[in-house]
Amino acid sequence: MISSAAVSVADRVSEPVRSYSQITVEPLSPFVGAEIGNVDLSSELSDAVAEEIARAFREHGVVFFRDQVLTPEQHIALARRFGTIEINRFFKTVDGYPEIAEVRKEADQKSNIGGSWHTDHSYDQAPAKASLLYAREVPPVGGDTLFSSMVAAYDALSPGLKATLERLKAVHSSRHVFGYTSKGLMESDLKGRISNPELATQDALHPVVITHPETGRKALYVNANFTVRIDGWSSEESAALLGYLYRHAVRPEFTMRFRWRQGSLAFWDNRSTWHLALNDYSGHRRLLHRITLAGTPLS
Ligand code: SIN
Repeated sequence: MISSAAVSVADRVSEPVRSYSQITVEPLSPFVGAEIGNVDLSSELSDAVAEEIARAFREHGVVFFRDQVLTPEQHIALARRFGTIEINRFFKTVDGYPEIAEVRKEADQKSNIGGSWHTDHSYDQAPAKASLLYAREVPPVGGDTLFSSMVAAYDALSPGLKATLERLKAVHSSRHVFGYTSKGLMESDLKGRISNPELATQDALHPVVITHPETGRKALYVNANFTVRIDGWSSEESAALLGYLYRHAVRPEFTMRFRWRQGSLAFWDNRSTWHLALNDYSGHRRLLHRITLAGTPLS
């Protein structure tokens, strides 16, 4: 068997290497994910700490914090430190806190939220910048979340395919996922956790390769959940190209797997990563709170 070409860690570096003085940052894989220490997210973050967290977020695509004790108010205050909160139209929200979407699966429920590779809100004209997911209750084992770097996935493509992709746009939609035409939703036990199908009216056109608005790095910006076709291509033609990209984008070396504990918080960049919630914990409850930050149109 011929092994695939190694992807270089040096390709990942997007900012001048500067060390961290306020926080600890331990990369969890070469291309995506880092655990941050020495921070209490329940307290007001100093500018220096917030700047270092934002830098680690840009550099690693997703950053994780452990053993945090946050009230909903503190979760909201933390999110506001990094952007403007965008209210999700479809998730049930936490009572009294419309800013916080509930990612819940009860012990007797079958379907989970976010169980296929995606990036949040790509169906919007100005897709979400980031999400902050906080674990309130997790199964004893299982329910991990996978992340993949769309910067690493793009970097590893051939120059020829990169040049082709850079001329293309893709159509993203919320209709087939959250709307009345969503077979998966209508026939599953997600009802009540996901609602408002009448609001699933969003379609958006985005470049297949975006330039990250903060790092300037190029990233693949299509995903299996919300992208419906390449603009100007038939569904069949689109499926062939997108199918290849979706397989390529989750090569194991571009991914990492996060094991939650109660009090863990993940803060991910929706422009440079994908994520997927594993559904392997039947008989147990899993409850997380998610806040999404508004983004800008992508180019
Ligand atoms: C999501 O897709 O936002 C949920 C991810 C998770 O539950 O791990």
